[in-house]
Amino acid sequence: MSHPVRIAPSILSADFARLGEEVRAIEAAGADWVHVDVMDGHFVPNITIGPMVVKALRPHTTLLLDVHLMISPVDTFLDAFAEAGADVITFHPEAGPHAHRTVQRIKALGKLAGVSLNPATPAKMLDYLIDEIDLVLVMSVNPGFGGQSFIESQLRKISAIRKMIDASGRDIRLEVDGGVDDGNIARIVAAGADVLVAGTATFKGGPDHYATNIAGLKAGALAAG
Ligand code: DX5
Ligand code: ZN
Repeated sequence: MSHPVRIAPSILSADFARLGEEVRAIEAAGADWVHVDVMDGHFVPNITIGPMVVKALRPHTTLLLDVHLMISPVDTFLDAFAEAGADVITFHPEAGPHAHRTVQRIKALGKLAGVSLNPATPAKMLDYLIDEIDLVLVMSVNPGFGGQSFIESQLRKISAIRKMIDASGRDIRLEVDGGVDDGNIARIVAAGADVLVAGTATFKGGPDHYATNIAGLKAGALAAG
């Protein structure tokens, strides 16, 4: 069973010179989680932010900090992101040789453990992790940049993972990241997603539009029935 739908704005589309203010603004505008995209210029072709920035943002919001690590190796940085104040730590299994061990470490740090699947990575990757994890993040674009178009084939993967989660009987969030907007969110939620990352769709038009943008996404999600 899905949870109530949550909107997780990706601060990748925020004004990096005013990040604290931007995070406060999206919380006031109705965001449910704050999605933090961490990129290393090696696992993905872009560089963003590290644990020091997560730590600096922590006092600016009471919302759950959803940290998406697109870095390799990943294990060496788990403790730093946990100490910085991450609530969810999500990694890509391709980023290291021991995905199961990485999950165990995140849980030992007292954090929710997420596994992210790139567009070409099959749902099957989860077979021997599903009993351990708290969240699955389906990438509906190739990771690295905001503002890309949603890859339609991921809808099938979302449906397949929804079945796996329901069959497991475990409390696992199904998050979708990349190209989510008010035009496709209903189909994504209908396929089984319950956390929707939205960078461009949240931040477009600037601070005066955040509340309307988030409300539009929530209304779209409700249309999924
Ligand atoms: C891509 C990131 C996403 C992305 C979402 O690597 O993981 O979070 O920024 O941005 P939009 O919503 O603009 O596609
Ligand atoms: Zn992300």
